Amino acid sequence: MKKHIILTGFMGSGKTTTGRVLAARLGWDFIDTDEVIVHRLGMPIPQVFAQYGEGYFRQVEAQVCAEVSERRAPAVIALGGGALLNPETRQLLEARGEIFCLVCDLDELMRRVQRGEGEAQNRPLFQAERARLEALLEARRPIYERYPQIDTTTSSPERVAEEILRQWNTLR
Ligand code: S3P
Repeated sequence: MKKHIILTGFMGSGKTTTGRVLAARLGWDFIDTDEVIVHRLGMPIPQVFAQYGEGYFRQVEAQVCAEVSERRAPAVIALGGGALLNPETRQLLEARGEIFCLVCDLDELMRRVQRGEGEAQNRPLFQAERARLEALLEARRPIYERYPQIDTTTSSPERVAEEILRQWNTLR
């Protein structure tokens, strides 16, 4: 059986919030790869992008994803929204966990990111302009659609976690 439960999806889709709830329900560790990167580099993500560029961020992200997937104990792992664009990361994580994709209506997603204080500033790829954000989401759709989709638009994190557990149980 694949060990971990891994959450992907666009910025603001609820990966971190749902992941925490899910990990608590299972009694597993929760790991947020963005948090690991920030801790490792000692600077917030926008600063990594500004100082070293997105390419460097993606290298560190791939390394962190590989490391956390190798953990012995099962964990709920929330990925940054772009982590699975890397084919090697995809291959590795698909082998080591069941991946679920959280999806959310774009307007609600923009509200969530803008509502959270400082959240938009913490996401260098977040565009306040709807059309640009939509284009980024469209470009990623083929990757996100590889995985079971869980809609979070109108559901609480508890209900989303419940639905992931239900689907996960059918895969075991
Ligand atoms: C990114 C999403 C962010 C973070 C970085 C890049 C992306 O994580 O990894 O800003 O490419 O979609 P969240 O999806 O948790 O916002």
